[in-house]
Amino acid sequence: MWYGITAVPMSQWSWAMTRVPREREDPEYRLLAPLSRSELRAEVWNAHSVKEFLQHPNSMPAGPLGRWILQHGGLASVRHYLSELQLGARQKRLLDAHLDHPDASVDTYCGAAGLAKSAFHNQRNALAEMLANHLNVWQLDEPKMPDEAALIYGNPPAAPELVIGRDHDLQGIKRLIGIAKPAVGHSSPPALTILSGWPGVGKTTLAAVLAHDQDIRVAFPDGVLWLSVGQNPNIFAKLSIWARPLGIEAANAQTVDELKGLLRAKLRGKRMLLVIDDVWEARDVFNFRLGECQCAMLITTRVQEVIFHLEPPPHNARIYSLSVLDGDRGIEILSRLAPTVVANYPDKSRELVGALEGLPLALRVAGLLLNAEAKIGLNMFGLLGELINGVKIIDAPVPPELTTLMAEVPSTVAALLQRSITYLPPRTQACFARLGALAPEPATFALDAMRDVWELADPVPMVRELIGRGLLEPVGEQRFHMHAVLHKLANSLLRE
Ligand SMILES: Nc1ncnc2c1ncn2[C@@H]1O[C@H](COP(=O)(O)OP(=O)(O)OP(=O)(O)O)[C@@H](O)[C@H]1O
Ligand SMILES: [Mg+2]
Repeated sequence: MWYGITAVPMSQWSWAMTRVPREREDPEYRLLAPLSRSELRAEVWNAHSVKEFLQHPNSMPAGPLGRWILQHGGLASVRHYLSELQLGARQKRLLDAHLDHPDASVDTYCGAAGLAKSAFHNQRNALAEMLANHLNVWQLDEPKMPDEAALIYGNPPAAPELVIGRDHDLQGIKRLIGIAKPAVGHSSPPALTILSGWPGVGKTTLAAVLAHDQDIRVAFPDGVLWLSVGQNPNIFAKLSIWARPLGIEAANAQTVDELKGLLRAKLRGKRMLLVIDDVWEARDVFNFRLGECQCAMLITTRVQEVIFHLEPPPHNARIYSLSVLDGDRGIEILSRLAPTVVANYPDKSRELVGALEGLPLALRVAGLLLNAEAKIGLNMFGLLGELINGVKIIDAPVPPELTTLMAEVPSTVAALLQRSITYLPPRTQACFARLGALAPEPATFALDAMRDVWELADPVPMVRELIGRGLLEPVGEQRFHMHAVLHKLANSLLRE
């Protein structure tokens, strides 16, 4: 006797079920959906018990499977349901093959593989349409099941390939998110954690590492929801990115609030990590925050004002400031990307890491440039000098992985950094550019110097604004630091 049961890995099953649209909530779906719950996984649906159940359909299995059958109308009803299912030859073969491996865990769903895949396919097409300018990111032909180990939904980046020197930070953020504590998000209010730092310091990269991390997987068994927000987001369109994976038809909602209500209802009781990447305005955190839901939330932003709004009560956001990399880690990035250059010019390479003040974005760009030019045998000493002194670094193209790390991908480093400038009032933009006239080594400025260069009687409000926008940081004694790479940008804007 065979039933319409297909063996699939658990992660694919739970993932696939989230993609079956709401209107497909037919008896088939409703009956088998609870099977995706992880507590039933290892114990119940191992090959042995499935085989036993199929061979002795009148005996009630013990343990969680028995309880599950009772919850679903008892043995007779489950058997009746099973007997009505269509059985395909392929499914029989799959089950056969699976049962021949007694150690394999069998997670089941009935005849819905094609359905789930086509639902995913449709969803991917819909998303691709929405993200028309990112079409190249989506591979439209082959529906792809997610990474076995990770349940990451929304528009997440892939796990970054090159991440140097962030183990300590990773642990620090995990502590803030609270995953060291036993019951995540159950008794205490859900945690709101902000990862902040200079543009290009690696906030998104680290959040992506976290999203793919095994500890996160365990602490948030229902997965990670990712959203790249960017500037001036369309809230409804952005929230819709979360709707499909949670089994919601965004079209059923008329307003943002309605859509949030649907999402909230779906998330109730779920343990998920919500990553909101690249936030520019504190209000966007509220737009994407789904109150009542017991999920932890991680936000990345280069804008300090977001922190000023969210750190104090009642929000009590926990802040993690991501620092630039130290000299050794900086050299490690360059060595990985341009090994012969670093081997041949160790001192100059160190000087470059110093000039770029350990900013991963700039180091990555420099490493790619050096490697490309080393291959065609150009004078590396000259290029190293240009990278250290000039605007070469900010005019360079952005690294290729940013096409998956960011919502809107600028073409050059300058364009990427200028996202912090172009949304400022013209007067603030001008004051930022004028700081390019001050001596850069290192770019820490006294209040008096800024007063002079800005020709303002009271420079403090402007200083405050630039700090709020993440373009200056206080270093004590009325002095303020601008990252060397931002200073290069200011300098180039001034020359324009
Ligand atoms: N630890 C690291 N090791 C190697 N490369 C890194 C590291 N962190 C970041 N990068 C690289 O630096 C670049 C910028 O990283 P990322 O986009 O994560 O920065 P960000 O802080 O999110 O910037 P933004 O403020 O623009 O959002 C990427 O190309 C990324 O691959
Ligand atoms: Mg980012």
